[in-house]
Amino acid sequence: MSIEIRDLRKAFGPKIVLSGVSLEVRDGETLAVIGSSGVGKSVLLKTIVGLLTPDAGTVVVDGREVRTLGREELYELRRRVGYVFQFAALFDSMTVFDNVAMGLRRMRLPPEQVADRVEEALDRVELLGYGDRLPAELSGGQRKRVGLARAVAFRPKYLLYDEPTTGLDPVTTTVIDTLIRKMSSDLGVTSVVITHDMTSAYRVAGRIAMLFEGRIRFIGTPDEIRAAADPVVRGFVEGRPDLMQGVA
Ligand SMILES: Nc1ncnc2c1ncn2[C@@H]1O[C@H](COP(=O)(O)OP(=O)(O)O)[C@@H](O)[C@H]1O
Ligand SMILES: [Mg+2]
Repeated sequence: MSIEIRDLRKAFGPKIVLSGVSLEVRDGETLAVIGSSGVGKSVLLKTIVGLLTPDAGTVVVDGREVRTLGREELYELRRRVGYVFQFAALFDSMTVFDNVAMGLRRMRLPPEQVADRVEEALDRVELLGYGDRLPAELSGGQRKRVGLARAVAFRPKYLLYDEPTTGLDPVTTTVIDTLIRKMSSDLGVTSVVITHDMTSAYRVAGRIAMLFEGRIRFIGTPDEIRAAADPVVRGFVEGRPDLMQGVA
């Protein structure tokens, strides 16, 4: 079982964002999706969990097409497919504990189980003992880890990370990348990591897919992407936009 995306299309009014994305996320792998700002990476990720509905094409998760799921089934899907939001999306007035517990309470788990799972999740992101803090009392990296804990508390099969290291300093970036690898090995989750940071992509991913002008321009291992001849791929990987100009 895995995630299979076929010929996905999505436009907002006249703006075509995805114009035929096909992509398979293999069981157990960590796939990085790279691409310039505004290319549609978040749109792609949101479509996987049914936060956005595609205009055409299909997303199949564990054999079920997301678009056909009813409300309850969508909730169930979102527990199975943890989504780590770009800006952590924490509630500022709630403690770390309550931020992580919120979704579990909505599942109507008994309070002892909620507490156990929150502790377990905070432990996994190395924030044990931070439950009583407020988000404002945390660093940027710690806030991102709370966002991760919130997804992990559901014991998901998949983790989707939207730019987990954007805006972080290099040291904190390394901490987060290490955590992403740890989640993959400790929990056996299948992961999709959206990033525009090549260092992170090389560090966490077994395969890297590049989104460009609405489609997957390239997919391959880190070695394969390093060796790619396509000027669009090279331009991005080497941070040389001049190579990407005027090519289609
Ligand atoms: N809900 C929305 N309504 C209208 N336009 C949107 C919406 N979400 C995203 N877009 C547009 O789609 C494009 C891709 O956005 P996004 O997926 O967020 O890019 P990124 O690759 O940086 O994550 C952008 O031009 C953005 O403005
Ligand atoms: Mg984005």
